[in-house]
Amino acid sequence: MSDFTTPFWGYFVGIVAMLGIVWCLWLLYTQRRWLGRSNAPPRRASGLLPPEGALLPRGGPAAKDANQPADTGHVWDGDLTELNNPVPRWWTVMYLLMCLFAVGYLLLFPGLGHYAGTLGYTSADDVRRQQEAQDTATRPLYARYEAMPVPEIARDTSALEIGQRLFLNNCAQCHGSDAKGAPGFPNLTDGDWLYGGAPETILQTITKGRHGVMPAWSGTIDARTASDIADYVRSLSGLGVDRSRIFNGKDAYATYCVACHGVDAKGNQALGAPNLTDDVWLYGSSQRTIEATILNGRDSRMPAQEGVLTPAQIRILTAWVWRQSNGNASGVDAAPAAGNAGDLARAPASGKP
Ligand code: HEC
Ligand code: HEC
Repeated sequence: MSDFTTPFWGYFVGIVAMLGIVWCLWLLYTQRRWLGRSNAPPRRASGLLPPEGALLPRGGPAAKDANQPADTGHVWDGDLTELNNPVPRWWTVMYLLMCLFAVGYLLLFPGLGHYAGTLGYTSADDVRRQQEAQDTATRPLYARYEAMPVPEIARDTSALEIGQRLFLNNCAQCHGSDAKGAPGFPNLTDGDWLYGGAPETILQTITKGRHGVMPAWSGTIDARTASDIADYVRSLSGLGVDRSRIFNGKDAYATYCVACHGVDAKGNQALGAPNLTDDVWLYGSSQRTIEATILNGRDSRMPAQEGVLTPAQIRILTAWVWRQSNGNASGVDAAPAAGNAGDLARAPASGKP
């Protein structure tokens, strides 16, 4: 299988690899006069190397002696010359063996462009085999959690340890290693939910993913009105605003925004439309950020984990995430052994940074 979009690169790679080997062999052939002759090393005593202080004439006396290697005729510093010894035979043999190895390797394994190799090896198969072996080895570990209710898993110390590790490996790159999120990536520890915090809802979110879309209004709403609405939205969370603009903003909100965010602006979890009254922000609370959200819209995706993680792993992650907001409520005392999950569970619900 090739990752290239056009067949050209497959042929290109194959031809370059073949030409490389042919060139190496050709090079060896052109140098054959110097190859494989087993020569005794130059003997100082034989008079090949001049006694100290003597100057070797250009071309050297050795050039006239058929049994001795000639020097190259290069002279440095007045008296330093360079012998032109043939390459030792072991080197030639090694060079040839390496060329043969290259040909053999390219016959057996993929490497020559589109040619797949006679062994049919692919690194993707290799990874799949390793993953399957891994899954088989860990299945017994997960088996007991498959039917356990999520709140119960959330009280199981070893499940929380596994959950913490799964989270760090699969989720932390977006939600942060402390699960407190970042602009555009929700905080999972504050008890405030875009889609809902019931165990089944979290399970659904992780399994199937989520896609939150806030439409762009720049075609309908002018910048001035967007700014008025932003003032109104900020006022709902008690943030400092320009009072004179709230009324206009409130009218426009009723026209454009209630459908998703609700008359009371408390949001709609079925759509993932955030509550706009709780001073918890996915993107930020500044006037400019809210104006940008209104005019340009937002589009964010939580990637589905089914197919990436096993159902049992998703269950354990659900319990771990659920516990971040319900640690105290469920009366869990035992802190998870790993890392800071215990601290997270005790963290009070708070606004995003
Ligand atoms: C590529 C980034 C990315 C990764 C990886 C990711 N998430 Fe998310 N997650 C998001 C985004 C973005 C959202 C918000 C989606 C939206 O606004 O519609 C989200 C939403 C969520 C929600 C819903 C929060 C709420 O308030 O309702 C949960 C729960 C969640 N993620 C858990 C996880 C878990 C557990 C993992 C690891 C298996 C994970 N996420 C991996 C980006 C990611
Ligand atoms: C079609 C439904 C829909 C409409 C209509 C809509 N929104 Fe949204 N809005 C959303 C969704 C869904 C999100 C979450 C986007 C995401 O997950 O990235 C959102 C996000 C936001 C945010 C970001 C909140 C945060 O926590 O950072 C603001 C502010 C906002 N909307 C205000 C408005 C205003 C004001 C209007 C009216 C002009 C409006 N929305 C109209 C669905 C909608």
